[in-house]
Parts: sequence; C-alpha cells; structure tokens
Amino acid sequence: MAKDISSPAVDDLSEKDAAQELVRLAAEMTKHDKRYHQDDAPIISDAEYDALKSRNSAIEALFPDLVREDSPSNRVGAAPSAGYTKVKHSVPMLSLGNVFSGDEVQDFFSRIRRFLSLEETETVEVLAEPKIDGLSFSARYEHGRLVVGATRGDGQEGEDITANLKTIRDLPDMLMSDAPKVVEIRGEVFITKDNFLALNAAQEKNDAKVFANPRNAAAGSLRQLDPKVTRSRPLTLFAYAWGEADPVDWESQEDFFARLKSWGLPTNPLTRVCKSVEDVFSAYSAIEEQRASLPYDIDGVVYKVNRLDWQQRLGFVSRAPRWATAHKFPAEQAETLLEKIDIQVGRTGSLTPVARLTPVTVGGVVVSNATLHNEDEITRKDVREGDTVVIQRAGDVIPQVVKVIADKRSQSSRAYVYPDACPICGSHAVREEGEAVRRCTGGLICEAQAMERLKHFVSRNAFDIEGLGAKNIEVFYAEGLIANPVDVFTLAKRDEDPRNLTPLRHKEGWGTTSADNLFQAIDEKRTVSLDRFLYALGIRQIGLATARLLAQSYGSLKALRANLDKAQDRESPAHEDLLNIESVGAAVARDLLEFFAEPLNSEVVDGLARELNIEDFEAPDVGRSPIAGRTVVFTGTLETMSRNEAKAGAQALGAKVAGSVSAKTDLVIAGPSAGSKLKQAESLSIDVVDEQGYLKIIGRA
Ligand code: IVH
Repeated sequence: MAKDISSPAVDDLSEKDAAQELVRLAAEMTKHDKRYHQDDAPIISDAEYDALKSRNSAIEALFPDLVREDSPSNRVGAAPSAGYTKVKHSVPMLSLGNVFSGDEVQDFFSRIRRFLSLEETETVEVLAEPKIDGLSFSARYEHGRLVVGATRGDGQEGEDITANLKTIRDLPDMLMSDAPKVVEIRGEVFITKDNFLALNAAQEKNDAKVFANPRNAAAGSLRQLDPKVTRSRPLTLFAYAWGEADPVDWESQEDFFARLKSWGLPTNPLTRVCKSVEDVFSAYSAIEEQRASLPYDIDGVVYKVNRLDWQQRLGFVSRAPRWATAHKFPAEQAETLLEKIDIQVGRTGSLTPVARLTPVTVGGVVVSNATLHNEDEITRKDVREGDTVVIQRAGDVIPQVVKVIADKRSQSSRAYVYPDACPICGSHAVREEGEAVRRCTGGLICEAQAMERLKHFVSRNAFDIEGLGAKNIEVFYAEGLIANPVDVFTLAKRDEDPRNLTPLRHKEGWGTTSADNLFQAIDEKRTVSLDRFLYALGIRQIGLATARLLAQSYGSLKALRANLDKAQDRESPAHEDLLNIESVGAAVARDLLEFFAEPLNSEVVDGLARELNIEDFEAPDVGRSPIAGRTVVFTGTLETMSRNEAKAGAQALGAKVAGSVSAKTDLVIAGPSAGSKLKQAESLSIDVVDEQGYLKIIGRA
C-alpha cells in the first residue's frame, strides 16, 4: 500500500497522468474515509492516510487547474453526500435574481408595477434585509414540533440534516406560540466572524482543516455525518422565509417576520419596511455602511414585496421569484498580471476568450482566470497578453477584466490577434453578421463541442447524475468510454460485456463499489420529464424556461419530433404553430429546427429514446383547471392585469399561450381595442370572451 502511495514521483507526472492520479486518489480516500468514519474499520494507518493526502495536495499544487470538485483537500471530515438521505422539498427552495446598480433597482420596481398594472399612486412596499453569506436550510415543523431539517440541494431535493440542525441552539425544537399545523421555516445558517477565527485557531492547533472563510466553515460544520461535530461548532441562524405552510395566516412579509419572532426564531434586526424607492436606497446605504462592523458576513441586501397577494400574483420566473431580488454590494477589485489569453470552445461552438492571471486574492477568494467576454471586448479594452489589468469579482459572478493599466504596458507588447480557426479542431470559426460571438463550424466533430455538450447533459438542471460530473466526463471521453449522451446510458451494458477486458472496477481509482454506485446512479435517472430531457440536449437558446414551454406545447417527444419535422417547411402550419409558442421567435425556431435536422443529433435522440423513459409533459397540478391543455390568445387591452401577468397566470393553470390566432386556438380573450386577432377568431368561429368572462372561467371573478 505504502509503495503505491508514493510512486510515480509527483514531479514526473504529465498533466494527463496527474488528472488520472487525482481521480484515483479521490476515490481511494473516499473509500478510506468511509471505512474510518462510517464503518469504524480503517484498513490503513493514519500515517498512510496522511501520505495519500499529501500526495494529493502536492499534485494539486503543481496542477492547480486540475483541482477536482470532490478533491480530498476540500473535504471536511467525512461528509460525502452519499451519506445523507435525500429530502424532496414540498415547495422548491428558490434562488434570487441579482441587481447591482440603482438603475437595476428602479427596473426591478418598474417590472413589478407593470406586471401588476399598478396605478401611479399605488406604493410598492418592500421588506429590506441583509443578504447573509451562509448556507440556506429548511426546517419543517408539524404541530409546532421540528420534524425534518434539510439543505437546499438543487432546490428540488436537499439532504436530510435533521440531527445536525437540532444541535443548533438558536433553532427551537418546539415553536413557541400558536404554530400552524405545518410550517417550513427557511433561513440561513452561519458562523460569526469571531467564531470563525476562533474555530480556525483551534483547528490549526489540532492539525485539522483550516477553513477559507466563514461560509465554508458553516457549510463544513453543518454537513457533518456526525452530529456531535456539528454540536461542537458555533453555528447560528436567521430565519427569513417559508416553504409549505398550512394555514398561511399572515398577509405580508412583515406579518410573517412578526410571526417568526413570536415562534421564537431569530430574525435579522436590520430588517425594515420601505415605502418608496428612496427608502430602499437609504436602507441599502445604511446596511452597507454597517457591513464591516457587523459580526457576520453579508453580501448584499434582499428586497421582498411586502404584500402576500402581490407575491402570489407575481409568481416566479424559472428559479427565482419576481417579487424579490438581491441588491449586491459592489464588486471587489484587484490588480494582477494577465499572463495569457486562452480561447475556450463552448457547447454550441462559441469561442470565449479567457484571461489566465497570476493568482490574486479578491474579496477573500483566489482568482486565476477571468472572462474577457468576446472579441469586441478585447478590441475595445485593447487587452494584450503581458498586460497588468484590473479585475473584479462580484458575488458568484465569474471574475471579469475591467481595464488595462496602460502605464504598466511593456514596449514590446503587441495587440492580440483573435483566431479565425477553432483552437481545438481547426475548423473555420466564423462570426455571423450581427452576432457578438465567433463560432467553430466543426459541430460534433469538434471534441470541445462534443465534450461540453456531454458536460451540459449531466449537469445539475439536466440529468444530474451523482458521481458523473464534468471531471469524470473528461476522463471517460478521453478514454473513449463516453463519446455522446447515449453512451452514458449504455455504459453499464458495455462494461458488463464479457468481451470487455478492462471493466471500470479494474481501472485505476475505481473499485467494484464505486463502479456499481455509478451504474446505479445512472439507472436512477432513466426516467426523465420531457422538459428536462429537452433542456439536457443542449440546443442553442433552449434554456429551462423554453424547454418547459416546448414540452407543455407538444406534450410528448413523439409529437414534438413529428411537428418539428413538418415545421422544417417554413411555410407549413406546423412552423406557424412553433412560432406561436410563447418565447419562441424566429431565431430560437431556427436553432431548434437546425438541431433536429442534423442526422447526428437525430441519432442521439433516437438512441436516448430507446434507453430512457421520457415522461410526457404533465400539466402542473392545477386541480380541475378549466383551461388546462387549452390554447389561449390574449388580445387588446386588459384592465385588471398586465399582459405578462395574464400569460404567466394562464400558463400556471396549464394553458398554452399563443401569440396569434389559428385553427388550434381554443379561446381568445379580447379586451377593448382588439383588432385583427379578434376578426380572425370570429372568422374561424373560435370562442371569444372579454376579460371579465375569462376571470369567471378561471374562477377569479
Ligand atoms: S430569500 C424565495 N432572504 O441567498 C426567496 N435569501 O442568492 C428565498 N439568502 O438561496 C430567499 N440571505 O440562501 C432570502 N435575507 C435573505 C437571505 C437569503 C441570504 C440566500 C438564500 C438564497 C440565496 C439566493
């Protein structure tokens, strides 16, 4: 065992070998962690374990770009997520949109006003509260008693951390006064700055892991397989939202805050109600001024519409509410050397310039890469290799190059020449008129595109396969094990084939258990919803929201393909139907049709259809919605709601909203000043109602 650990010498490793070695070490150490922490039965000595760990760190130090997400150096104790049971959130845990400037704050309010069709005189009250830089949690109380605690996970499903949450003193086991039958309390767990320093000092003394920042310390402490460890860590929390609740007997965010306090939950004392945009700006400034002296880290201010009925009307856009946003503090900046400009090739062939930097710390995080966006950006800022540049980083946003420090430029410096060939496959890279990006024309023969598509295919919002992240995809792709999405689902079959001489379990870094776990994780994802499936294909411009609308419009993969086949004829009714889908314009339609017209893509879709159970679109649970499955068109002026609210509302009730009237239309809602669409409806004898009539149909009047 010891021999295995130290050879070959770290300095002799090529980059490729190093990558493989890191995979092997991560798997090896996971195995030992499990034997030590879960089975209480280690099979190597502490010294041997430490040798593995140092070897891993030494390789990472030489190849910092290869550091894996599951790197043993990032591991806190033994917290492999496989050790937790999953909890499905009954109401998804959403994230927040971001704004950075005063103008964007104004836009946020204007959007709300427009959406709700508010009179000028009406004020939009919001609650402003600090955005805590911690870890979100959900705590479910039934009849006042804490029953389940969970992490956010992917928003739909988190990890069961009930035992750990129960060790946090500030979180009551029983709610104090008149608790609802069910209420899921959501909030942020964190560690104060002082406690973080003290914890790190203690860790250092015990030769244990030192945390990079309070957020990491809180995460590492909460996600512990052993609740005793969590108990020993100074975790605390603020509550700020709810998930499922029955009954909801509060009418505003403010009321809810008062309820939180009455139940004995900690709330942030800096929270206040703002009655105007000016109020909001002053709340923001006041909180920003206190930032440095607050005992905990914050990274912005969150604004939430106070009235609950408005929150309900505003609803959500994909993963974030329309009724709340995070106003982030300004980006932190630093100066460093831009060593090199690399061109990355994305999933759709886009070439993106990336600045490789001499590593520098910005706002507590080491940054060694920054984005340069595109060709024009480089020209506009005249960024050159060897320049000293100012970079900035704001929140989770990718660091950016802000400007070049001209005085520090060397005389021999040359303007950067943007490539017109793909750096990966050599195909022509062309920039179409009116487009900001240059694209590789190699399609799937371009390894970069093929691989990026695969990475997208297994990413979180797509197939999300445990144990098959970007790094493993790279390794499997390099070894020819997975060349396209279908290969993911035939991996086990091919692996078990007796003619296969090197099954996964015999490969470096793998064993029977880890190989079986991977195959099982893949099998678990064989049933997939149509919208997730469409998103996973990685078609240009088809994000989550559009994928969902496509699924909703066509219902099944079979219907979608048949209709898109017909729609290849730009004059066909099927093409018109496609353009009629909300958010599908000419450009999106073109990308979609191009994708399905490419035989290689069709083959992949056929192959996947054989391997998977792709579920037909399930209309959202809207009870007996009278318009579920119907195609409706709004035209003319609406009086009680904006056009956007009307569309979003109809979609939430399971209807398809189309932009123009055709034989497929079931119902036209016509307000005053309706014109040609109304005429069209009449000539096709389609049902027409006015706004009040519509509200009656959907039970809102
Ligand atoms: S409200 C539906 N309030 O920020 C709204 N979130 O970037 C749910 N966060 O996932 C979130 N402080 O973990 C809210 N005062 C606050 C917050 C807060 C921190 C976190 C939360 C969320 C993330 C989004």
